[in-house]
Amino acid sequence: MRRKVVAGNWKMNKTNEEGIETIKELRNLVGEYKNVDIVIGAPSIMLADLAKVSAGSNVKIAAQNMYPKDSGAFTGEISPVMLKSIGIEYVILGHSERREYFHESDEFINQKVKSALAHGLTPILCIGEKLEERETGKTLEVNSKQIKGGMAGLSVEEAKKVIVAYEPVWAIGTGKTATPEMAQATHKEIRKVIEDMFGLEVSNGTIIQYGGSMNAANAAELMAQPDIDGGLVGGASLDAKVFEVIIKAGN
Ligand code: PGA
Repeated sequence: MRRKVVAGNWKMNKTNEEGIETIKELRNLVGEYKNVDIVIGAPSIMLADLAKVSAGSNVKIAAQNMYPKDSGAFTGEISPVMLKSIGIEYVILGHSERREYFHESDEFINQKVKSALAHGLTPILCIGEKLEERETGKTLEVNSKQIKGGMAGLSVEEAKKVIVAYEPVWAIGTGKTATPEMAQATHKEIRKVIEDMFGLEVSNGTIIQYGGSMNAANAAELMAQPDIDGGLVGGASLDAKVFEVIIKAGN
């Protein structure tokens, strides 16, 4: 049985104080949920404080991005060494907003995945097709390319540590969730791509989250699908009480 992982993605929202308050509230609400891993992806400026506020609880903190070098002349960037030094355990990589607005390629994302793994960070590798790609029958092709690119060159042991987040771009922030059946079918295809790359043991164990307008009303039905192992939740993760309902659905 795969354990569910419910991760929030705050994106570029909240002040530092608001972030701290939300984590304090969340850790009080979710302390009893033992059957789900809980992660919050926060803006980099908050990570150190949130790591402290969440310490000793079952709420883990993720970075939303990182640069695939340990240190050096990369103005404005944050390294895996820095993340580890403040107790961060997860990093969201290759989010569609980073692919779209910051032109991140599969090759660059692959460097980040490798660098994260080398430093003991768990990468949450985001993939997903755009609307026109789904409408023109390219869903599998696009997701397959992003998985093959993002996980290229990993050993079986490394591949086992990667969390995949399938986020159809047309469902992100739009309120248009994929139906549970549609999401399940795509998750199954993605798992097959992972099987072809790394074998059945890896693909059976890989956490594949769904993301894209997951909310308190649809989370349980989505996560009830056999190949949906949790969620990557944007808007509905900003409020601790709303997010708790989604976490409970994964517990
Ligand atoms: P959303 O975002 O839940 O607001 O659609 C999901 C994401 O982009 O991770």
